[in-house]
Amino acid sequence: MQLTVLSLFPDLIEQVIDASITGRARAAGLFRLKTIQIRDFAVNRYGKVDDACYGGGTGMLMMAEPVYQAWLAARAETPDQPVRTIFLSPRGQLFSQEKAQELAASTRPLVFLCGHYEGIDQRVLDEIVDEELSIGDYVLTGGELAACVVIDALLRLVPGVLPDEDAYTRESHMDGLLEYPQYTRPAVWHDRHVPDVLLSGHQAKIERWQASQAALETLRRRPDLARKRPLSEAEWADLLTIRREEQKQGEKP
Ligand code: ADE
Repeated sequence: MQLTVLSLFPDLIEQVIDASITGRARAAGLFRLKTIQIRDFAVNRYGKVDDACYGGGTGMLMMAEPVYQAWLAARAETPDQPVRTIFLSPRGQLFSQEKAQELAASTRPLVFLCGHYEGIDQRVLDEIVDEELSIGDYVLTGGELAACVVIDALLRLVPGVLPDEDAYTRESHMDGLLEYPQYTRPAVWHDRHVPDVLLSGHQAKIERWQASQAALETLRRRPDLARKRPLSEAEWADLLTIRREEQKQGEKP
């Protein structure tokens, strides 16, 4: 997997991706990341990459040509393969786990374009961008943090990046539900007990409990997700049985 990021702050991307799990995966050669400094393609020797907006307004806009030249350099990294160019912007389609899966499976090299200041001249966006992604309905100072979020979410789906495939197939959002609560030692902490079923050693019971907790947490916390991923009859039946058992034992009202 080849990832290239075009940015005025490439160090920010390098530092985030080189930390922890993604850093180890990069060192192990599980993906290639290249960052390109857009300022290296400035229109003058003072490093000019932005200018005032036509039509007035206060902010500065990134100029088309430096961005285009940086993109040509990114494209030259993989001359035999057409790139897929993603612009991070609050106007984009909302990023999701589904999109992370789609990008992780992409056969085309991915190029991420990060804007700064008031944005980027629309003409270069029209020329090079395949899709726009937003990481949420709020505005950041630039696209770098958004690019890191997207890259982190997709990299952990690349085989080998996480040590155990189970780690990403059984967690929040992977099958449209949130993750069930998890516990580690000690079995009692501050008078709070790990649910008995998890100490029972009865694997089938444990899995039924975990599945029903995932359903319950999704219904409680994110009814919007629950509407998109309705529970099957069997899941409802398990959930109700387990809730009844819990209530009998006087746990969680
Ligand atoms: N750039 C600025 N805000 C952003 C957002 N919410 N998502 C993606 N890129 C952005």
